[in-house]
Amino acid sequence: MAEPFQNHSREMIHLYEKLNLHLNAQTLLCNQLETIADELPRRVDNQQCLLAAQKVYPVVMAAHSFEENELFPALMKADPSNAHLATTIERLHGEHWEDESFAHEISDTLKSFVAGREKNIDKLSYMLRGFFEGLRRHIAFEKEMLSSLLGEAT
Ligand SMILES: [Fe+2]
Repeated sequence: MAEPFQNHSREMIHLYEKLNLHLNAQTLLCNQLETIADELPRRVDNQQCLLAAQKVYPVVMAAHSFEENELFPALMKADPSNAHLATTIERLHGEHWEDESFAHEISDTLKSFVAGREKNIDKLSYMLRGFFEGLRRHIAFEKEMLSSLLGEAT
């Protein structure tokens, strides 16, 4: 894990707060997808499926856009010679790319399920669990990394 920054600039604290908002929105999304997966196939609420299908990609993209365009550049600017940080950010970038692709697939499959075109419940359940479990791991890592960089306890 990276060394904590010596000075917590106001900008860095603001970025940390924004990150938490995005991580919380993604956590809520994961919880909603888990509820759907748990209720498949008969107890599931079609309206909840459609709402989740509509929000999964925008929620993920909003977080990634913030991290890639604001947070990561600020972290690198604050500690440009930190090779470990650069490697970690590269890894997170790869995970973002995978999650965006996966989010599209989840959205399409949920819509197909509600429309009655997707009948493979095991496939949908497997997809949902794979997505939210991976995203939860990503969120937990980013929370830990940022807390460490800022020298704070979570
Ligand atoms: Fe991320």
